[in-house]
Amino acid sequence: MVTVVFPAAGRGKRMQAGMNKAFMDLAGLPILVRTLLKFSACEAVDKLVVVVAEAEVAFVQRILQLVPGLKPWQVTAGGSERQYSVLNGIRCAGTEAEIILVHDAARPLISKETILAVIEAAKEHGGAIAAVPAKNTIKLCNDQHQVVETPDRSKLWEVQTPQGFQREILLRANAQAEQDNFLGTDDASLVERLGEPVYIVESDYRNIKITTPEDILIAEAFLAEDSVAEAMGEAFQTVGQALQQAIKADIQGAAD
Ligand code: CTP
Ligand code: MG
Repeated sequence: MVTVVFPAAGRGKRMQAGMNKAFMDLAGLPILVRTLLKFSACEAVDKLVVVVAEAEVAFVQRILQLVPGLKPWQVTAGGSERQYSVLNGIRCAGTEAEIILVHDAARPLISKETILAVIEAAKEHGGAIAAVPAKNTIKLCNDQHQVVETPDRSKLWEVQTPQGFQREILLRANAQAEQDNFLGTDDASLVERLGEPVYIVESDYRNIKITTPEDILIAEAFLAEDSVAEAMGEAFQTVGQALQQAIKADIQGAAD
């Protein structure tokens, strides 16, 4: 069984939208819902675990009930750091999940091909992550901003999600990180510390993490030329409007 954990418990500070960016509208549907629908369209995916802030759990359960076509889902509470949110999600996934994928809720432009390739590679190697070749030259600097080294760009990859692992490896990696008080910037770094292999799956440059306001414009531009997404947008127009109203009502309710 393949379970996908979606960390969505951040505050979206850099987006400056005054709300969790996962609930922001992107071309007619909330970002989180777009992401969940992408994974729900993959036969190889069995279950979705959505991790949101504790105060958002009931609200997100209500929203997701309005969305047709989702794979079986569960909503659970996250923590103060992404790594803690993911760990709660892994615990929620249960023992039946042989393969666990972790995917940022804020990456709705993920392709089906990348999802399937990460699942296959995780089954084969134990750990696999989506990434793209670095486009820019990257410098390694010291604290005084003096350049120390220029790593060979042909060996550098910019890492994305999904990141997929055999459940046992991911659990062991998280337990070790907890014990060592290690906070990683991605899930694979925890697995690498164990000496377990992690393989790169070449993804595409569209799989951006929506982080700052201009990313919304970029994502809209990508969606506009994506005929499948457009068709989905039309079919989901009514659902999108209902979701927007429900989200507005909840945020308004919280502000009252
Ligand atoms: N995330 C999470 N729990 C946290 C922090 C982040 O589940 N304690 C999730 C976010 O919701 C997001 C993903 O991890 O889907 C990637 O994090 P990021 O892009 O940094 O999102 P935010 O933390 O929400 O944004 P910011 O850092 O600008 O506040
Ligand atoms: Mg963050």
